[in-house]
Amino acid sequence: MENKVSLEDIVSLCKRRGFIFQSSDIYGGLQGIYDYGPLGVELKNNLKAAWWKTMVYERDDIEGLDTSIITHRLTLKHSGHEETFSDPMVDCRDCKHRMRADHIVDGKCDNCGSKNLTEPRPFNLMLRTNLGPIDDGTSYGYLRPETAQGIFTNFKNVIDSTSRKLPFGIAQIGKAFRNEVTPRNFIFRVREFEQMELEFFVEPGTDEQWHEKWVQTRLEWWKKQGLTSQNLKLQPQKKDELAHYSKATTDILYRFPHGFEELEGVANRTDFDLGSHSKSQEGLKLFAKVKPNPDSTAFLVIQDLEKKTAVVPFVIEPSAGLDRGVLAILTEAYTVEKLENGERIVLKLEKHLAPIKVAVVPLAKNNEKIVGKAKEIKHTLQKLGLGRMKYEDVGNVGKAYRRHDEIGTPLCITVDFDTFEGDKETVTVRYRDSMKQDRIAVADLEQFVKNYFV
Ligand code: GAP
Repeated sequence: MENKVSLEDIVSLCKRRGFIFQSSDIYGGLQGIYDYGPLGVELKNNLKAAWWKTMVYERDDIEGLDTSIITHRLTLKHSGHEETFSDPMVDCRDCKHRMRADHIVDGKCDNCGSKNLTEPRPFNLMLRTNLGPIDDGTSYGYLRPETAQGIFTNFKNVIDSTSRKLPFGIAQIGKAFRNEVTPRNFIFRVREFEQMELEFFVEPGTDEQWHEKWVQTRLEWWKKQGLTSQNLKLQPQKKDELAHYSKATTDILYRFPHGFEELEGVANRTDFDLGSHSKSQEGLKLFAKVKPNPDSTAFLVIQDLEKKTAVVPFVIEPSAGLDRGVLAILTEAYTVEKLENGERIVLKLEKHLAPIKVAVVPLAKNNEKIVGKAKEIKHTLQKLGLGRMKYEDVGNVGKAYRRHDEIGTPLCITVDFDTFEGDKETVTVRYRDSMKQDRIAVADLEQFVKNYFV
C-alpha cells in the first residue's frame, strides 16, 4: 500500500510526542540540525542495535570499530575529499541567494527569478575545526564527512590485532558532518547525521559478486525493519553520478513522503582508499618500516602467507543513513485508522524498534494498592533487558492507550480493581495493532512478555 502520510504529519508527531526537535529551538533553531528526544533516542538506539546485531554479532566475518570524529586533514586529502567533495554552487548577483548549480531551472535564481547569476564555483562540504590554542589557519582537522575513513586508516591495526583473512569486514556507526547547502525534508538531508557503514574487504576480482550480494543482503535487512517491498527500490547510479572513489554504486531508495530517494548506497570502492592512503608520500614515509612486501608500494595490504602474495583488497561498502532510516521507519509505520467512535493514529513499528516496549497503566491513580502493583510490574519487566518499560499514569486509561498507540508501544498492561479479585492476581494486556485485550495472571507476565518480544 502506498504511504499517504505527509512530512508535516511526521514532523508534528515527532515534536508532539518527543521523538525529534529542531536543535537550539529556543534561539530560533539551527538549519539542518536536529536533536532526538526521549522517544527518538530509543528508536534510534534500537535501529542501531538491530544493525550491529545483524552485521557484527550474527556474522563471523565482521569486526566492529568506533573511530574519532575529528579527522587528520591528510586523511581527507588522500581520500580525495579535500579536492572533490564539493557541490558546484551558483550565486545570484541580485538577491545574493546561493544555490546548487544542478538545481537551477531555465538559468533562473530559484529565489527571485533573476538571470544575473555567477558561474558555478566549487563549494566544499567538509566542516573544518581548529585544533590547539592558536587559530593560525594551519592546525586544523575536519569533522569527518563519512565514517569510512576511520576504518581505512585503522585497517592495518585491525588485521594486526585480529589476524583476519579476506574476505572480512569492519563495521562502524557514528556521526558524520556535511555543510549541506540546502538541508531539507526534515531529517532527510541534514548537516549533522549518523551513518551505519560497513567496509567489506575482498580479493580483487571477486568484488562484483560481493557487491551484488551486499545489495540484496541490505535490501532484505530493511524489510526486516518493517519497510515494505512496494516502498523500496534499487537504483544503480549512472556513471556521471558516481562518487570519486566508486566503480559502481547501487542505491536503495525508499518512498519518503517527498518521493523515492536514497536510504542507503552500496558502493564498490575498489582499492581506491587503501591504495591512495598507502601510496601517499606521508603514508610511505610513515610506514616504510612496516612494508610487508618489498615489492609492494602499499602498506595497507593483506598478506596471503600460503600464496606468498600481498594484495590491496577491494572494498564493498554498504553505507546507510541512520536518520534517513528513522524517517523511513516512521513514514512506513504511521497509520491513521477509522474507529467506530472517531479515528486513531497508530505507529505500527516492528516490536524490536518500539521506543517503549510495555506501558503499565494503573486504572486508579489514587489507589495505593493499584499504583503499587503497577510500579512493581514495571520494575520486574524492566529487569528482562528488553528495552524501556514505562509506568504510565498520565490521563485516564483510554488516553494512555491512545498515547501509546501513537508512539508505537506494542503492549499496555492495566492494573485494575479485578487484579486483586479471585485466587490469583491478574491484569489486562492490550495489543497495539488489534486493540484486543487478554486477561493474564501476574505470575505469568514475565514469561509472556519475554516470549512476545524475543
Ligand atoms: N561512505 C560513503 C558515503 O558516505 P554517501 O552516499 O555520501 O556515501 C551514505 O552517504 C548515506 O549517508 C546515504 O545513503 C544517506 O543515507 C546518508 N546521508 C548522506 N548525506 C546525508 C545528509 N546530508 N543527511 C542525512 N543523511 C545523509
